[in-house]
Order: sequence, then structure tokens, then C-alpha cells
Amino acid sequence: MNGYDYLEKQVFSVFDDHGLSQIKIHTQNVIELSKEFSFQFNIHQDKLKKAALLHDISGIIKNRDRVSYCESHKIPLIEEEIELPVLAHQKISKHMAKNRFDVQEEDILSAISCHTTLKSDANPLDKALFIADKLAWDQEGIPPYFNSVSRALETSLDYGIYIYMDYVINNQWLKVIHPDFLKTYLILKRKFY
Ligand SMILES: [Fe+2]
Ligand SMILES: [Fe+2]
Repeated sequence: MNGYDYLEKQVFSVFDDHGLSQIKIHTQNVIELSKEFSFQFNIHQDKLKKAALLHDISGIIKNRDRVSYCESHKIPLIEEEIELPVLAHQKISKHMAKNRFDVQEEDILSAISCHTTLKSDANPLDKALFIADKLAWDQEGIPPYFNSVSRALETSLDYGIYIYMDYVINNQWLKVIHPDFLKTYLILKRKFY
């Protein structure tokens, strides 16, 4: 068993132990899509797979416990993440990947830590995990933006992300808009609108 397979076994058994079958299935789907994206966008496959595997590991921490988890582990939060703690889960996943699963590669940790909101200086690895997470979403069925985003990704990674962000902004899906998300959206909007 290679290093990745061993890690995957460990992570999936953590999900099983916590009864998190939905997150496990979602994670498997994000991994599958990551393999496609690594070819399509020329991204290091092993890094993207590892980031996909661990991106939602913080699912084992209940939403109501996320702010106190961050306090006790000295993970800095901004106002929006305290208001809507689900926005903090990307930082907790990064913390767990590093401290519990001994992932030390900064680029993998970066992709995990911005997979929900993205960030304005994102690299292709960050971007590919972000959009794979949105296409292989954690809810029933296929997301309504699936076809338009998939088509846009044929043009470029940035254009696909712009189409996704534009959809969720215009349909008022976001209860709280994270500043990193907003900043990235506005940059892409200037580029594509
Ligand atoms: Fe997530
Ligand atoms: Fe996810």
C-alpha cells in the first residue's frame, strides 16, 4: 500500500467512525473529479488528490463547536467566519491535515484552507479543488449550475470559477459573503464581464 492509499484508508475510516457517510461520498466524488481536472488543467495529480481527500475532514467537528475549536487551537477567524461558522471549516480542515495527518506540503494545505471561498492570489491547485468541490457538491442530485460551469471550464479554469461565483451571487445563495470570495469574484468579473 502506498502513502496515499494508506492515508485514504485512514481518512475514510475516520468518516466511518463518525457516521459521516455523506461527507465520505462527497469526498470520493471530489477525488474523482480532481483526477479529471489534473489532466485538463495540468495540475500535479497526487497533490490535488491529497487535498481533495482531506478538504472536508473538519466535518467531524460539529458546526456549533467550530468557533471554540479554532479558539483552542489558535486558528485566527474573521468576523464573517464567526457569524457563519461553516465558513471556518476550511481552516479547521487545514489544521487537521497538518497536525493530525502530517501533511506538510504548503500548496496542499493552501488548497484545503481556501476550498470554500477561494482567495484572490489562488494558484491552479487552489482553483481546481475549489471548483471540483462545487461541481461534486455535498447535496442531492446535480447542482443547477453544473452544465454552465462545466462548459465554461472548457474555456479556462478562471472562467468556470467566474460562472459559478456569478451564479451564487446573482441567486443570493450566500447568507454571508466571505471577503476572500468577494474579492476573487470582483477580480474575475472585471476580467470576464
Ligand atoms: Fe468544504
Ligand atoms: Fe467539500
